[in-house]
Amino acid sequence: MQNQPDWQRDGARHVWMPYTQMKTAGVPWPVVATDGVYVTLASGERLIDGVASWWTACHGYNHPHIIAAIERQLKIMPHVMFGGIHHEPALRLAKRLSQLLPGDLNHVFFADSGSVSVEIALKMAVQYWLNQGFAGRNRFISFENSYHGDTSGAMSVCDPDNSMHAHFKGFLLEQYPHKIPRTATDCQAFEKFVAERVDRLAGAIIEPLIQGAGGMRFHNPESLSMIRQVCNQHGLLLIADEIATGFGRTGTMFACQQADVVPDIMCIGKSLTGGAIGMAAAVATTGVFEAFLAEDTSSALMHGPTFMANPLACAAAGASLDLFETEPRLAQVQKIETALRQGLAPCRDLPGVVDVRVLGAVGVVQLQQLEHREKLMEKYRQLGVLIRPTKDVVYLTPPLVISENQLQKLCSTLVFGLQEWSAGDE
Ligand SMILES: Cc1ncc(COP(=O)(O)O)c(C=O)c1O
Repeated sequence: MQNQPDWQRDGARHVWMPYTQMKTAGVPWPVVATDGVYVTLASGERLIDGVASWWTACHGYNHPHIIAAIERQLKIMPHVMFGGIHHEPALRLAKRLSQLLPGDLNHVFFADSGSVSVEIALKMAVQYWLNQGFAGRNRFISFENSYHGDTSGAMSVCDPDNSMHAHFKGFLLEQYPHKIPRTATDCQAFEKFVAERVDRLAGAIIEPLIQGAGGMRFHNPESLSMIRQVCNQHGLLLIADEIATGFGRTGTMFACQQADVVPDIMCIGKSLTGGAIGMAAAVATTGVFEAFLAEDTSSALMHGPTFMANPLACAAAGASLDLFETEPRLAQVQKIETALRQGLAPCRDLPGVVDVRVLGAVGVVQLQQLEHREKLMEKYRQLGVLIRPTKDVVYLTPPLVISENQLQKLCSTLVFGLQEWSAGDE
């Protein structure tokens, strides 16, 4: 193909891309640099990133404070294993996270990706029961339209029918999916469902307030409270997967806080490092942690990713937390919410649009259906923005530092692109 840089022409056929049919997919766009809210392509085009690299770049790209922290750490110790030894960046970060997280989520188990943190959370919950002599409590309540990652434990708690992992039924552990309770009647039905299976259940896992990759669906804080209440009633551990929603995205630092709910285990990732480098964690309450304490090692948590607590990632995460303290991120989220409500409202009048919803710095345009997603993405590229629709939604999760003008451009471009799209100009 014309105009491809050497590294792309020679290397692209050796890379297996995510979520991609490699036979039919077009050539991915080569990105050569990032800064602020922009990604720069090899062609020189600068696109406003409407999705903050899958919800990660909350402070924008290349924030100097995060870069400086990584550079400092890079010269001292880029990596060291975490087995039997530990280090200052990890300990400082664990303490800060436990202070920041709600309730007594005080025990931080570091991981290298969100999916792995979900695996760890599930394992913690199962072993919590094992350590107390309950061998059969090893299944989970999961929820319709949920998405928790791509490793097999995480896949098992995704929606078994309506997720990209649906064809792995039979390979995956069978869990107990249920719809999210939204009313008192729903809650009664949910409670009955749990009561009938309680001997098999270790816990429940939920993406609080926003279900992301399963279709960008919202639920109210009340739903979360009801789930917490039913978990309490039956002694189930509640796992909150805040990998996408954590760190300000929904308007509070963590989505659970809007329901005043403290989970027993919380998974965090994505924006944890300001999106600069991969890191995640499963954070447990004191009660969960103490269930693993004994004189012998058989009740210890046997898990340890090679790159857990990577010092560069810890440094980046520490710097990201500094920015949450020193810069007005939550106030910015409020402004983004208002601007998204206004900016996306015109979509309501477009044919094929069935819903427009906004929560915090997440704006969603729900379509009846969306075919040729890549072509729509390409159209947006030509208009100067990076928007990557998923399933039947076109959504925005911009960097939280996006300016008013940039956001306006993002929204108006999203609307214009869809207008042209629905007029059949694809
Ligand atoms: C809610 C949620 N959980 C888990 C994951 C998996 O995280 P990772 O891609 O870092 O493995 C994601 C990723 O999008 C997510 O949105």
